[in-house]
Amino acid sequence: MAIATRPKSPRALGETRLWLQPGSRSAALWARAQHVMPGGNTRTTVHMAPYPPYAASGDGCWITDVEGDRRLDCLNNYTALIHGHAHPAIVEAAGQRLARGTSFPLPTPEEIELAAVLTGRLPSAERVRFTNSGSEAVMMAIKGARAHTRRPKIAKFEGAYHGSYDYAEVSLSSGPESWGSLAAPASTAYSRGTPPAVLDDVVVLPFNHPEHAVARIQQEAGSLAAVLLDPVPNRVGLMPARCDFLEAMREVTRAHGIVLIFDEVISFRVGYHGAQGAFGVVPDMTTLGKIIGGGFPVGAVCGRAEVMTVFDPGRGTPPAPHGGTFNANPVTMAAGLVAMQMLTPETFGRLDELGAKLRASLDACFTQAGVSGRVTGMGSLFRLHPMDRELVDYRSTRTTPEEAERLVRIVRRLMEHGVLMSVTGLGCLSTPMADAELEGLVETFAAVLELERRSGPSE
Ligand SMILES: Cc1ncc(COP(=O)(O)O)c(C=O)c1O
Repeated sequence: MAIATRPKSPRALGETRLWLQPGSRSAALWARAQHVMPGGNTRTTVHMAPYPPYAASGDGCWITDVEGDRRLDCLNNYTALIHGHAHPAIVEAAGQRLARGTSFPLPTPEEIELAAVLTGRLPSAERVRFTNSGSEAVMMAIKGARAHTRRPKIAKFEGAYHGSYDYAEVSLSSGPESWGSLAAPASTAYSRGTPPAVLDDVVVLPFNHPEHAVARIQQEAGSLAAVLLDPVPNRVGLMPARCDFLEAMREVTRAHGIVLIFDEVISFRVGYHGAQGAFGVVPDMTTLGKIIGGGFPVGAVCGRAEVMTVFDPGRGTPPAPHGGTFNANPVTMAAGLVAMQMLTPETFGRLDELGAKLRASLDACFTQAGVSGRVTGMGSLFRLHPMDRELVDYRSTRTTPEEAERLVRIVRRLMEHGVLMSVTGLGCLSTPMADAELEGLVETFAAVLELERRSGPSE
């Protein structure tokens, strides 16, 4: 059942606009950053015009910026902080480990504990290796699949984001001018200067179109090491994959000895056994990140024991060597272990319930305000779309320039009234959230849509 709302002035969570004032601390920090970082920025994702508010601290589901304004954090560092900020149990575990040393040229007991939690939960994870980010995990999974199959190419889905490895970035931002047919999407570069050989070695598939995807995989089967698939892909609209689509991907990859990799860097958040547990489709390898580090930098590549032997250094240099100075550093492992232990099936059940209620409420706000829009998502994840059309794949969810502008305007107004979300419309819940916070969010959202309906762009 949706959360009831009445549009009112956009003050449900209070006005939070101090950072925009001339002479604000954020303005001064940003001006200083210009001299030491390109564009004052060291993470493209958090770029914001004219400049961002700088964060000072976080507690639970709230972030306080350097001006003293507080916002409800509906982004949680792009879904990583499932327990919000500075959870006492995580602070305690990380602090205790910190005091005994932060990284060593030796393994620590903590890495075994976290690996055991992951193998216990994820159907596909018989063995685990830790990395420092989701991007690295995806890179190692691809290299591992190549080593396992001795084949050069991978297939990935149009529009899907998997971090910054060259091969994983292909066709991330394809547009109508170059994306080719739906049956055989073109391989397009994301970063300028991407070597043509990279584009040649990535076969691009249409998400949620089993017939087309199967046909393309069959054509390329002899040279494909892996099919890389996010079952709830954020940049493809955050619609859950169709079950028949996932089953078709499992069947065709198995038939041709291709490694099926699920990228669950975000989707591990949707349930105790990840998205693979929720959908009942088990891949050969899985990449993880974000929530498993308890708020510290992390990634992991997991998989069937037989496939994961490519990383085993026990008999000389392995087929897929894998180093990393900070891999499995014990502070991340200790924080991640506590974060995962607190994620019980009951906790997921509660997050699922809140998520479903919130998506229905936000959808109802669009209808009540008469503003075009829809909400997608699964579990504790949600995404706003500034359009009414049916959303099935990357092409249908890709915004027109006008739609993108409207979404940026809505998210910006939320930001000015106490709610932090991504400019792409992504949002997520954290365990400290309850009905009261979500009611505030929905009231603010209704008020912001009312402004959008009445005035459109603000002057
Ligand atoms: C599905 C997916 N894969 C991989 C990554 C890369 O993870 P990281 O930012 O830790 O490198 C992300 C990051 O958002 C992601 O959403």
